Amino acid sequence: MNQSLTPSGAIGVFDSGYGGLTILRQMRQLLPEYDYIYLGDNARAPYGSRSFDVIYRYTLEAVEALFARGCRIVILACNTASAKALRSIQQNDLPHMEPGLRVLGVIRPTVEVVCELTQTRHVGILATAGTINSGSYGMEIHKIAPDIVVTGQACPMWVPLVENYEFDSPGADYFVKKRIEGILRQDPDIDTLVLACTHYPLLMNKIVKYTPAGVRIVPQGEYVADSLRRYLARHTDMDQSLSRGGTCRYFTTEDAEKFRESASLFMHEPIQVDHVEL
Ligand code: DGL
Repeated sequence: MNQSLTPSGAIGVFDSGYGGLTILRQMRQLLPEYDYIYLGDNARAPYGSRSFDVIYRYTLEAVEALFARGCRIVILACNTASAKALRSIQQNDLPHMEPGLRVLGVIRPTVEVVCELTQTRHVGILATAGTINSGSYGMEIHKIAPDIVVTGQACPMWVPLVENYEFDSPGADYFVKKRIEGILRQDPDIDTLVLACTHYPLLMNKIVKYTPAGVRIVPQGEYVADSLRRYLARHTDMDQSLSRGGTCRYFTTEDAEKFRESASLFMHEPIQVDHVEL
């Protein structure tokens, strides 16, 4: 990684690819004063159908690369990595690293809000196969509200549609309609559909098109950003260790130019990207 361009003390944001940009955008809107480093492992995305061991190893490599770049805190802006790797990294790896470094995920902040939103107490989770098979959403929701009925639906084609920039194409209609109809057929009482994959907000036009009125669609970015704001307010040592230059640097394991073109469209601004090997 190019070590010279970003001040030490940035907030690290990691995703397998472009999806975490939906979280980063909300963080920068809410907390614009901090410096950010985004890392997308686009060369190895999607993670969704990979095994636990592989997702853990890839995620740990990315986290270490962000810490090596001066980050003090890393947000896994990826549900699959949060479901499969967060706990292991927190329990097994962080204790062997420099004291004070932190890694946070996106599932807990989302679940806290979802439990408040549902009226019918029937919640649907749309996510990658990895996240659904982990059962993480059900477990986290039931810690807060054991009465909520949780139904999961894996949407294996949705991340590739986004990564390949097909999210507004007619082809996306087929896959989005199929999965939304599928989950609502499994549980017609669902009133809250969680987009439990950070790529999915990019399919929002299609998701809205096939979701009946009365079912609330819940993207995560705003809740994760607000959870980070509250975390930093509670942990003043961490907050004081972060730099405040308002900058944002991007790294990808894929071709930097390719990432720059796509990510600029997602972020609605020109961005500067470097290639990184993990
Ligand atoms: N954005 C990731 C998530 O939230 C997508 C994972 C993947 O690469 O399949 O789960």
